Amino acid sequence: MAVAVYPGSFDPVTLGHQDIIERSSKIMDKVIVGVLKNNSKSPLFSVQERVNMLKSVTGHLPNIEILAFDGLLVDFVRNCRADVIVRGLRAITDFEYELQMSQTNRVISPGIDTIFLTTNLKYSYLSSSIVKEIAMYQGDISAFVAPEIAVKVLSRAEDVKNGRPAR
Ligand code: COA
Repeated sequence: MAVAVYPGSFDPVTLGHQDIIERSSKIMDKVIVGVLKNNSKSPLFSVQERVNMLKSVTGHLPNIEILAFDGLLVDFVRNCRADVIVRGLRAITDFEYELQMSQTNRVISPGIDTIFLTTNLKYSYLSSSIVKEIAMYQGDISAFVAPEIAVKVLSRAEDVKNGRPAR
């Protein structure tokens, strides 16, 4: 059985991420989406909220599992008994970072390979930060995230703007 891990911060999950998840779910027997508890970024959503949002947009896919992780990605991959890491490549600017990560991961864990899917052209410019920035001004983010995610992001952005703590 071919198992892949698709890791990221997903703060929040965008339509670009969903595209990668759907396409990799057709290639692999099982895809585990790994949601990073990332100390170097200050996320808008807690890791549990990000897990829940991912669950709500992938519920129609039978071979997807959503799990949180911290620590090294290769350790998570090994614990999941996965064979490969999946990453999306949006533009040439992603390449250098992704190459460095995949090669580093292979050095520290030689059995673990990374496969890359080119992001759908429709979403090649998209990032979670852009979505959050537009939401901070209560702009229209419906072209970037699923409707149920848009509601949550706009509401949280409003809270942050008004100095209300995360609920
Ligand atoms: N569509 C839309 N946006 C996409 C995308 C796609 N297909 N693919 C990536 N992005 C965006 C994300 O939204 C994110 O945007 P942001 O920076 O505005 O938040 C950005 O691209 C990159 O984020 P992401 O894919 O979530 O990766 P990351 O850099 O946050 O995390 C990990 C990458 C989790 C793989 C890496 O940090 C990791 O492995 N960490 C664990 C520690 C470790 O093992 N370190 C050693 C690694 S060599």
